[in-house]
Amino acid sequence: IRRIGVLTSGGDCAGLNAVIRAVTHRARRAYGWKVFGILDGTMGLMDRPLRYRELDSEMFSGFDILRAGGTVLGTVNKGDPFAFPMADGSKTDRSLDFVDGFHSLELDALVVVGGDGSMRILKKLCDKGSIGMVGVPKTIDNDVHGTEYAVGFSTATNVVTEALDRLQATAASHHRVMILEVMGRDAGHIAVSAGIAGGADVILIPEIPYTLEGVAKRIREVQQEGRSHALIVVAEGVLTPEGERATVAYAGGQTRYGGISQYLSDRIAQDTGTETRVTILGHVQRGGIPSMRDRLLASAFGVHAVDLVAARKFGRMVAWQDRGVVDVPLEEVCIGPRSLDPNGTLVHAARGLGIYVGEIGA
Ligand code: F6P
Repeated sequence: IRRIGVLTSGGDCAGLNAVIRAVTHRARRAYGWKVFGILDGTMGLMDRPLRYRELDSEMFSGFDILRAGGTVLGTVNKGDPFAFPMADGSKTDRSLDFVDGFHSLELDALVVVGGDGSMRILKKLCDKGSIGMVGVPKTIDNDVHGTEYAVGFSTATNVVTEALDRLQATAASHHRVMILEVMGRDAGHIAVSAGIAGGADVILIPEIPYTLEGVAKRIREVQQEGRSHALIVVAEGVLTPEGERATVAYAGGQTRYGGISQYLSDRIAQDTGTETRVTILGHVQRGGIPSMRDRLLASAFGVHAVDLVAARKFGRMVAWQDRGVVDVPLEEVCIGPRSLDPNGTLVHAARGLGIYVGEIGA
């Protein structure tokens, strides 16, 4: 091994730069390799001329990117290189551009920082080009298989918890029910963790069916206990009780956010006669200074990823399990998003606190 590449793929999150820094430090200091940062995810190797920059430790001597949110390498959600979207709406296979790009940069291995979708696509690309790949899990949604924590989750849940702290004060002043919509397309990890930490009364997640009566009952209970306000956390991936996706159309065709929280707000106001307000946190959850926990995870992951490359243990992802860093085969990771366990300790704890988390045994 003499030259390695590192790229960030899929949605950004806090802590990506700390991974890039750790990979660079370890590869250069311990092994004397050259490190190339590939720009804008897979695009940097698909575009001609190739887009990349050599990373050196001096880059981190002034303002240290350890502290910075986002990714200095950039990232794009442009879909699958095997079915790359063209301007005319058609799809084309650009996987060979990626493979050729990797080889013309004379790289010996690639460290991919990504979520479950990116990991699946990158593994397919690397298999196609016989490229040695090591994965590092990142996603605020924390829904990557094989690891208890992914980079970005800690910072995002801190943001959500702080939002609940702020909403509680204004909810109490106005005797309102506040509905906070958080990210989590497929899984309720953010909603449950931050909902418990932020003192929510209701937490709705894609994994557990709920009823509007259940939600209204909990709000009435809270009111009977003498509290005139309540906090509801809902993951964006939650459907209506009838199983429909409630969407709001924005200019540009974005319909992902804002549907379910507004739907709940209208129904709860109707059913309980209480004033409601909606907050959609959106990408605020992805930006900002990484938490101590994300910096620690990112740093330990980056070092371990480089050590795996040095040992030529390819086709694996670094992971956090049982108080330490381990690595798992990518086959075990690339099986779709990891759901939150409806029978797990967190849902049990939430219910133990009186929080309505959907129907029991549903
Ligand atoms: O996968 C992380 C995530 O934050 C999801 O929860 C969310 O739906 C999505 O990214 C939004 O991504 P973007 O707006 O960048 O396409």
